[in-house]
Amino acid sequence: MSVQEDKLKDIIGHAKEYGFVFPSSEIYDGLSATYDYGQLGAELKNNIKNYWWKAMVHMHENIVGIDAAIFMHPTTWKASGHVDAFNDPLIDNKDSKKRYRADVLLEEHMEKIRAKNEKEIEKGRAKFGDSFDEATFRNTNPNVVRRSAEIKGIEDKMRDCLENSKLDELKCLIDDLGIVCPISGSKNWTEVRQFNLMFATELGSVSGESAKIYLRPETAQGIFVNFLNVQKSGRMKIPFGIAQIGKAFRNEIVARQFIFRMREFEQMEMQFFVKPGEEMKWYEYWKNFRMKWHMALGFGDKNYRFHDHIKLAHYANAACDIEHEFPFGFKELEGIHSRTDFDLKQHEEFSGKKLRFFDPETNESYIPFVVETSIGLDRMFLAILSQSYKNEKLEDGTERVVLSIPPALAPYKVAVLPLVKKDGLPEKAREIIDMLKLDFNTQYDEKDSIGKRYRRQDAIGTPFSVTVDHDTLIDHKVTIRDRDTMLQDRVLIADLHRIIDEKVNMRKLLVG
Ligand code: GAP
Repeated sequence: MSVQEDKLKDIIGHAKEYGFVFPSSEIYDGLSATYDYGQLGAELKNNIKNYWWKAMVHMHENIVGIDAAIFMHPTTWKASGHVDAFNDPLIDNKDSKKRYRADVLLEEHMEKIRAKNEKEIEKGRAKFGDSFDEATFRNTNPNVVRRSAEIKGIEDKMRDCLENSKLDELKCLIDDLGIVCPISGSKNWTEVRQFNLMFATELGSVSGESAKIYLRPETAQGIFVNFLNVQKSGRMKIPFGIAQIGKAFRNEIVARQFIFRMREFEQMEMQFFVKPGEEMKWYEYWKNFRMKWHMALGFGDKNYRFHDHIKLAHYANAACDIEHEFPFGFKELEGIHSRTDFDLKQHEEFSGKKLRFFDPETNESYIPFVVETSIGLDRMFLAILSQSYKNEKLEDGTERVVLSIPPALAPYKVAVLPLVKKDGLPEKAREIIDMLKLDFNTQYDEKDSIGKRYRRQDAIGTPFSVTVDHDTLIDHKVTIRDRDTMLQDRVLIADLHRIIDEKVNMRKLLVG
């Protein structure tokens, strides 16, 4: 097992041990790729939602939020293209009986070639030192040039196959490149087939095609069908946005990597309605805005990158991902898509209702274009957990596991710990909790030594621990310990609120 795989395993174990994420219905041996968020996971998730909602809705006077139903009229999905085109190209390995997405197999193959190039470039950098010119090296080193051309060739061929549904040729490409199954190591592949990802169920007691409805595969359509409702009732003027957080469902074939790819997950999406022709300006705006939102968390800018889509979804004229370095490599965390007027136009056609914006200043009526930002809440949760999880060796030779979750997102902001369980210290601790709990999620803990209690708070990412001792009853001071520096300070109880607020308030994340 690689170091990275080890890290993911540790994170999964830690998440379960401390109540962040449990395998779903575990007493029945779980359900594949389905997870439940525990008591701390639910807090962290709420804080991430809050960070997103504040940044997107409260910080933009022209963005409002809604909460649409998961079930929608079945024609919605016909209009959106999901019934006909929301497919994955799948291929099975006959020996391992494992099923893969054909495009993912090819992407992973290209990633391996890319990694070889990066290694070659690092060697060049080490050899030439300060005089190393990366751009020239990329353009002239024969191995790097050859591999780059190889990647481009595969990309072009793959795009052509995917866009034109040439499934036979996609299979040939996999054969020609000698791609093997990661489990069996064999090249014994089936043909490539398209598979629709929507979950279907039946409404009411009547069965049959007429009662068939879908669990929404994206939250976006709930926004599109409410476009005019919101615009009219909220007196919104273009450009404006509608945001939503909610569950989405996809019958993913390859559901894996913990909460990274699940069949039931949560999305945080925003559709920004703009004047036709202005979509590229807004596409760039939202790309930058969303990247800054991620980087404000302080996990290091090098852990994020943009990746332009090779195969554009059926509704997009430009699209990219914000990729994040997860323990299993750079993967999609968020998508930013210029969706043109595709969805509103389709809903106009299928519903027979006009979905246009009337601009009173120009007396024009038009179907707006849409720029969408779409992030998976569960992926964001995993990104935070994996970046925060640290196994630290301390100066005194001991070790600690700490979750350095950005304080504004931490499940608990402060733990209040009476030094002993007697002499009025628990009562004083509870008094302090009563003072803090209106503004900060606070935990009380009186079990075990103070050292052990500090370690428990480190392991769940609590930014502050406050210890109440016998002197507290006399001088009204407590010891406050910082999770990250482990430094302790003696402060007045009256100053606690200010000290904690300075560190855990979301303001810093929102305004930089
Ligand atoms: N409305 C556009 C849309 O749904 P997408 O790229 O298919 O676009 C957006 O999905 C985001 O939703 C992804 O970037 C990812 O974070 C999250 N996501 C998609 N499928 C997922 C899955 N099976 N499990 C967890 N998150 C998923």
